[in-house]
Amino acid sequence: MDILVVGAGAREHSLAWQFIHSGHTVWIVPENAGLPLHSVDININDIEQIISFAQTKKIDLVVVGSEEPLLLGIVDVMKKAGLCVFGPNKEAAQIEGSKAWAKAFCHRHDIKTAPFIVCTTMKEARDAIDYFDCSVVIKADGVARGKGVFVCDNKDDALHQAFLMLEKKQFGQASMRIVIEKRIFGKELSALMIVDGERYQMLPLVEDYKTIEEQDNGKNTGGMGAVSTPQWVNQSMSTAIETTILSRTIEGLVKDGIHYQGIIYAGLMLDKDNQPWLLEYNCRFGDPECQTMMVRCQDDLAQWLQTAAQGALCQKMIRWSDEMAVSIVLASKGYPDDYESGYVISGFEQIDSACVFHAGTKRQGDCIVTAGGRVMTITALGKTTEEAKKHAYDAVEMIDFNDVYYRNDIATR
Ligand code: GLY
Repeated sequence: MDILVVGAGAREHSLAWQFIHSGHTVWIVPENAGLPLHSVDININDIEQIISFAQTKKIDLVVVGSEEPLLLGIVDVMKKAGLCVFGPNKEAAQIEGSKAWAKAFCHRHDIKTAPFIVCTTMKEARDAIDYFDCSVVIKADGVARGKGVFVCDNKDDALHQAFLMLEKKQFGQASMRIVIEKRIFGKELSALMIVDGERYQMLPLVEDYKTIEEQDNGKNTGGMGAVSTPQWVNQSMSTAIETTILSRTIEGLVKDGIHYQGIIYAGLMLDKDNQPWLLEYNCRFGDPECQTMMVRCQDDLAQWLQTAAQGALCQKMIRWSDEMAVSIVLASKGYPDDYESGYVISGFEQIDSACVFHAGTKRQGDCIVTAGGRVMTITALGKTTEEAKKHAYDAVEMIDFNDVYYRNDIATR
């Protein structure tokens, strides 16, 4: 197949890597410094030019990795242009595009989620914070690149955060409306599935390390590391997730008349009784969850994505390696806030015991330099989590650039 991957991060690099390993001809937009021979220099928001490129190259399958183009309706436009594209249309992508919409969806379809109140004014926010006794999570309604979720455990924090979002427009249009919900305690887990409109195929469960600092302190990020599958997950947890969250999600979408083809990513919290609660939905692969899964995939994943995009997902199961996978995100110091870029990255070309997936990097002369907050993801396999973790951290230590930052506690929960 000729495949076009749309998206600029390490997630898209890992998808392209998996497709190349399965023998496909792969292109990626925009440029990814890790895939110089496959990269096409088109702006990710220039949908017309991406379509024109896909038509010229007679692309068989477009895989859209990131949420921004999905929320802008890239799939609708591409389908109209006659392309086969894996990803939800604009209406279906609301599952990620509006937290308030997703919470109401869960409520309608008996999907367990924390009690919540949608607020547009500080008066409403104050009342909601009091109602939930100050232990709340505050979320921007729209997308904010993984940065729009704040866990608060006292009233001052919660009021300050609501003020920043509603009054100071911290995330612009995305935080004009916020969701305030009761905080649920437990263990977080990411459950993803490929959906063809009616059927689904569950992907391996992954544990994401979301905060910037170790021991789950500090601000939320897009994810600083991941493990697939964490040792503490057992079959009964997996069954509960599938029956009470994933299959109800598909049934709900079908009942609501929403045609969903693409990835559904359910961000979950498992409570003390190991019952799953839905924290949020995303309409695409997770990052770094995707990188962590791709190294375990032992099948031609692109064929599954193509059949899902055609509404014909088969019942056969995708084959995954029994090995454990660990990913570590290398970031620029300061991320998820401000950071410096343009520093030469060394040491990564010698790594052979792990995969190096590029995100915020670019080619400058003969060098690769930093060009973003999330610079690269290092992903390694091992027979045990310990072994995968060792391979991943050994590789991380070979890489050097000014202001490199990563968590040292990935795969230690
Ligand atoms: N790792 C979290 C996300 O992709 O949203």
